Amino acid sequence: RHPIIFDTDPGVDDAQAIAIALRHPELELLGLTTTYGNVDVATATHNALLLAELAGRGDVPVAQGAAAPLVKRRCPPPAHIHGANGLGDISLPPVKGRADGRSAAQFIVDTVNARPGEVTLVAVGPLGNLAAALQLDPTLIERVKQVVIMGGSIREGGNVTPVAEANMFNDPHAASRVLTAGWPLTLVGLDVTHRCVLTAEHMARIEAGQGELGRVLAGSYAFYRDFYRTFLGIDGCCPHDSCALAWLLRPELFTTARGHLAVVTEGDAEGQTLFAPEGRDFIDSRWSRTPAVDACLGVDGEAVSDWIADVLA
Ligand code: BDR
Ligand code: CA
Repeated sequence: RHPIIFDTDPGVDDAQAIAIALRHPELELLGLTTTYGNVDVATATHNALLLAELAGRGDVPVAQGAAAPLVKRRCPPPAHIHGANGLGDISLPPVKGRADGRSAAQFIVDTVNARPGEVTLVAVGPLGNLAAALQLDPTLIERVKQVVIMGGSIREGGNVTPVAEANMFNDPHAASRVLTAGWPLTLVGLDVTHRCVLTAEHMARIEAGQGELGRVLAGSYAFYRDFYRTFLGIDGCCPHDSCALAWLLRPELFTTARGHLAVVTEGDAEGQTLFAPEGRDFIDSRWSRTPAVDACLGVDGEAVSDWIADVLA
């Protein structure tokens, strides 16, 4: 089993991934840490608590984190994509539990240090919590097993601007620190998440398999799907955040390249991820000095989408 901390801004596609994190027998979910992004951070925490409770996993700690980016001004939450409540504006039952007293960053530091070399951090929102954890304890990079990030784009272009993916765009300064920190890291970006489509048939199976949690996943999916249909002309939706877990558990469905990453923090290209494949020489030697990471470039999108539905059905 993989012990993981899942850092998230739920968010419709986050909710699908949280359900996998809560349910999959090969994952040991040590905690959910929350950030602003798709919603404000209090709503993200509420949704994380709710989803855990609906899955009968109220025992999973939820620690609240970043309310805003490190440097730039916070982007308004995209209510037209995820709904004002982050879950497609469907009605939601009350939450019973409360968040852990620690900040997300402190929770990450404590949990990783308690199990050195074992814990995988899976982050699927803006990266302020991981950046803050690194600031609290820079030696964390030696004790984390690996970091898997849904975000960025190598060749695909962006989804907020022509070059920037949302999680990178929302906090490019945090992303820059996290992507160049020197820990074992895999980027699961739009190059692969845009190849995966969760269809209405997939969601019907998930709804049938997940009880009350299924109602929330299916109701929020319907709202999210309207956005994909209207703005992108796709019938179905990209399960971005679940792809990070698919990479962790089914890496054979992906192809990756090793290289050096940078995140543009200012200007028109803010939030763009730049990737220099390992072994290529550039006149500017900075590119060989930053630590190498893995980036997903290809995927069997149908197999990943089916895997998501199979896990949750
Ligand atoms: C990412 O942005 C968010 O809106 C989604 O939840 C996902 O994490 C996709 O660009
Ligand atoms: Ca997300």
